[in-house]
Amino acid sequence: MSRMWYAVVSTADWRYVMKIVVAPDVQHVAEAAFKVMKNTVSEKKDAVLGLATGSSPEGLYALMAKDHSENGTSYQDVVTYNLDEYVGLPQNHPQSYYTFMHEKLFQYIDVKEENIHIPCGCAQDEEKACHDYENMLAKVRIDLQVLGIGSDGHIAFNEPGTPFDSLVHLVHLKQQTIHDNARFFDHDESKVPTMAITTGLADIMRCRKIILIATGANKAQAVHDMVKGLVSTSCPASILQRHPDTVVFLDEAAASKL
Ligand code: GLP
Repeated sequence: MSRMWYAVVSTADWRYVMKIVVAPDVQHVAEAAFKVMKNTVSEKKDAVLGLATGSSPEGLYALMAKDHSENGTSYQDVVTYNLDEYVGLPQNHPQSYYTFMHEKLFQYIDVKEENIHIPCGCAQDEEKACHDYENMLAKVRIDLQVLGIGSDGHIAFNEPGTPFDSLVHLVHLKQQTIHDNARFFDHDESKVPTMAITTGLADIMRCRKIILIATGANKAQAVHDMVKGLVSTSCPASILQRHPDTVVFLDEAAASKL
């Protein structure tokens, strides 16, 4: 079996480097990312966590749940902010990000319900919902932000073309994202919501530390463009080249184009 390797990779812009961890498989990727999470919540009991949905962080969340049950690591004073939510799905919809977070993580740890924040996808006034979420975020500084990456280079739901100074906003999902996410909706693209509410790229760049998890060959090009491409809105994740403390956790397949 191949070994874990670490690299500090210089980006297209020589002023910046990115820290990369490549693990042999999905489980080792999750374990490596979990170490950062455990350090964060052990060192700071009232840590503010930024959380992501999608398959990429599932292994990390499973390890957080296991560690809480076996070692009692506490999340009682932790506060969480999720990145995004589909517009039009009620909270209790099986594919809402609210449901995802409760099913994959929150039901297993002792985080207080009142400390959980997820954008509202069913607000009557969607612009106000964006504004309200931004106002909440503006009052805190996220200690550790978990990210995945879309195959088109999106982070949260910041699709290609999103300005780097974007705050919480409504977004029309790109066809590629609808196609990718159809696997959660019976592989039926017509069932995937076409809009979402998402935290912006400027919100993400304000976080103290970021861990980005990507696995599988279908992420290899986006990972390449994020790390080695020019910093450009055509790959929203490329802005992370300018973040002072981002660590990217990859399996061999996702790292194959670096
Ligand atoms: C979704 C989410 C992102 C996530 C991305 C990748 O569109 N909004 O936060 O990072 O897709 O998802 P996955 O990890 O399932 O590949």
